[in-house]
Amino acid sequence: MTKTAKVILIDNEEAFKSAVHEVSELLRNGGVAALPTETVYGLAANAFDPKAVERIFSLKGRPPSNPVIVHIAGLEMAHECVASWPNAAEKLAEAFWPGPLTLVLPRSGKIPDVVTAGGETVGIRWPRHPFIQAVIQTCGFPLAAPSANLSNAVSPTHPDHVLKSLGRTIPVIVDGGQSQVGIESTVLDLTVNPPRLLRPGTIRLDSLVAVVGKIETGNVVTNGVFRSPGQFPRHYAPKARLVVRSWGKDIELAPQLRAAGLSALRCHVISHKEIPSERGLGHVSVLPHDAEAYARAIYAELHRCDEDGAELIVVEAVPEGSEWQGIRDRLTRAAESSNSSE
Ligand code: TXA
Ligand code: MG
Repeated sequence: MTKTAKVILIDNEEAFKSAVHEVSELLRNGGVAALPTETVYGLAANAFDPKAVERIFSLKGRPPSNPVIVHIAGLEMAHECVASWPNAAEKLAEAFWPGPLTLVLPRSGKIPDVVTAGGETVGIRWPRHPFIQAVIQTCGFPLAAPSANLSNAVSPTHPDHVLKSLGRTIPVIVDGGQSQVGIESTVLDLTVNPPRLLRPGTIRLDSLVAVVGKIETGNVVTNGVFRSPGQFPRHYAPKARLVVRSWGKDIELAPQLRAAGLSALRCHVISHKEIPSERGLGHVSVLPHDAEAYARAIYAELHRCDEDGAELIVVEAVPEGSEWQGIRDRLTRAAESSNSSE
């Protein structure tokens, strides 16, 4: 019989406490566990234990060149992980931690090479989810945790997503229900001046600017190398080909798809504003026309498309506003990685 991960519910006080105990024990012994965070589920291991962190890389099939985020609980632990703590970090931590913001800072000697991909910087984040906070506090060490999915696939926002991709290879999945935020944290590099946004999330750029002043955006490619592997165009992709399209009340979608040679594919449409009512489009779903609620729902929708065996996912373009920036970023990457000619 194939082994399957144990799924632990934390839906009451007792279950929560006993799960904290069990998971902390596992992590202390160099094990890994999939844990809920407010953004997406993470695959966690002791960040100070290189062997444990290596296990995460091999389970995910993650290239060793892609550094992982270190999750802390409390500023004291943050200070243990970094070589310096600039004023900008203090102000951002005050404004956004615990929460979906990762700060890239010079690493301390305690952080092993495998965590930083050999680099001199480390990404740290104080997550808001009470379960992972309790585990970090109980362990007394920070947790390295990338999203709990196979490398390059869509991040999990529900324990079932983790179960489907890693259920046969990891021992434990803690079920914290649906992720509250739904897309990965904002990653901000504070080792450069001005700071640079490496990955947009749900925190608006203008909110970050209000705290630290000017912030650079856009990809940095030095000698063909991306500054942060999350900037690879190929990332966060469902199995199906994904295209982003706009259509209005009077503009039909089907002719657009036909013109692009896409009409014969098993299609799944994800709309949020204009719901296409034409025939022959396949499954049509409607997400909320609100950035926060949309972010919470989009990955589950992409996972569902994969499960349904969709060959083509047509996503209605999202608005230009800054609250949609993180979502636009993920959709663009998913589209680019699924079809370079689109
Ligand atoms: O919301 C999140 O950030 C989730 C939850 C589990 O915390 N984690 C997550 O991890 O999305 P991951 O490994 O899937 O994405 C981490 C991103 C990658 O794009 C990685 O390249 C970047 O953060 N990153 C990590 N450390 C870095 C560093 N030192 N310098 C530049 N980029 C870094
Ligand atoms: Mg990831």
